[in-house]
Amino acid sequence: MTKIIIIDFGSQYTQLIARRIREMNVYCEIISCNSDLAALDEKGNNGIILSGGPETVDEHYVNKFSALFEVGCPVLGICFGMQLMALAAGGVVSSTVRMEYGHASLRARGHSKLLADIEDNVNEAGHGLLDVWMSHGDSVTKLPSGFKCIASTTTTPIAGIANEARDHYGLQFHPEVKNTTKGLEILKRFCVDLCGCERDWTSSNFIDRRVESIKNLVKTDSVVLGLSGGIDSSVTAALIHLAIGDRLTCLFVDNGLLRKDEASAVLEIFKNRGLKIRLINAREIFLKKLEGVTEPEDKRKIIGKTFIEVFEHEAQALKNIKWLAQGTIYPDVIESAGVKDGMGHVIKSHHNVGGLPETMRLSLLEPIRNLFKDEVKRIGEELGLPKKHMLRHPFPGPGLAVRILGEVTNEKCEILREADSIFIDELEKADLYNSVSQAFVVFLPIRSVGVKGDGRAYEYVVALRAVTTDDYMTAKSAELDFSFLNGVATRIANSIPKIARVVYDITSKPPATIEWE
Ligand code: XMP
Repeated sequence: MTKIIIIDFGSQYTQLIARRIREMNVYCEIISCNSDLAALDEKGNNGIILSGGPETVDEHYVNKFSALFEVGCPVLGICFGMQLMALAAGGVVSSTVRMEYGHASLRARGHSKLLADIEDNVNEAGHGLLDVWMSHGDSVTKLPSGFKCIASTTTTPIAGIANEARDHYGLQFHPEVKNTTKGLEILKRFCVDLCGCERDWTSSNFIDRRVESIKNLVKTDSVVLGLSGGIDSSVTAALIHLAIGDRLTCLFVDNGLLRKDEASAVLEIFKNRGLKIRLINAREIFLKKLEGVTEPEDKRKIIGKTFIEVFEHEAQALKNIKWLAQGTIYPDVIESAGVKDGMGHVIKSHHNVGGLPETMRLSLLEPIRNLFKDEVKRIGEELGLPKKHMLRHPFPGPGLAVRILGEVTNEKCEILREADSIFIDELEKADLYNSVSQAFVVFLPIRSVGVKGDGRAYEYVVALRAVTTDDYMTAKSAELDFSFLNGVATRIANSIPKIARVVYDITSKPPATIEWE
């Protein structure tokens, strides 16, 4: 399989470069610039992209990274990456007087292989122009020998460089950002035309290859997986099941903190697929450990620890288990700076499940660790998991415990489950479920006066929360129609005797978070 390597120098856009390349069905991987790059060679790597970064390039960087330009495959340097390329080849990089940030009109020059015939419009003199996105404080002010200038703007005369004999290219602007309208075409020119990458990174190819590699890795052993019902663990289960059938056992732990009918919904999805799922009713164990606990962080820790205890107990009872499967995905891998390929790793004390004891000596199987979330969803659909399940809003590991402020009790869980299911049902009926990123109800530990029938009520308050977000790092409160919200509030307060009042949370993240705890 052909592949592009992206060296991450700390740009906020590095993941975006990878996303864009994967969008064109070309496989790529991100490697941190702090990893050991000495082993990087031409074999299996068709091209290298150097990301942008917040630092100023200097001799120290040149000494550390000049070997990247000798690997032998084409190299594209973006922003900091271009400056590193220029300095390493004997050019000059200087600080610009003013930081250049935002849109720029760029003139392509010199008929380079990288930019030839790619243009947004043409000026009066007949020169091709590109609308690009700039974000830099330094720029190349003297071309290195062997390089020509392939792009310029009024403020940045050297906005692109090329040594075409070596297929080394540098761009001061960011082709990965959508505001660079022809950015995808430029990246495609580099990856496909200049590096010769195949566009074979498709869902069905991925499934075929992964199934093969799981078979080769696991051989005749058995695998255990903690199935949460979320997208990542569901897709991981379906994929491994395709490879090894009933040598996969899934453990679904009902901790009493799940949404209404969650366990039966998950069992229903996998019912006809022949997946071996053991439903573990651990509700009492969890609720007992949460008695009297009010601090959000304490709740999380108790739930994490209890989950491991329950999971370990159940897994140890299974025979011949050698592997623990997890639905780790690429953003988790990048964030933990463990950017390496390969699915099989000996288990370490810290991982998604939270650290199983070394005595279990399980190896870790993470078949979707190279995928972004949208790729996971596509694979899930290709594997025949219901689209509705793939479009489900995320649900936090500690479940309803972080949506019940104060002490968690079974009574509060029951009330919250009912209210939450009404909100979700109304969103679905109004065709609004997929227009918000996440929606749920929060249980507030206060009582309020109301009037129900002819009588006075003095009951609980719940808050509706619905947000829109791309990345869950920032979010906006969803601007749901008032009469819709009013209808939800009325249905909740009328049908749940223990609820007297419903409020809507209109806070963005930041300053709030999406969950209330
Ligand atoms: P916050 O509340 O931090 O949430 O704005 C961002 C996203 O993360 C989810 N979330 C969690 N998911 N374990 C999880 O698996 C957790 O402890 C946890 N806390 C928050 C939250 O639902 C939202 O989608």
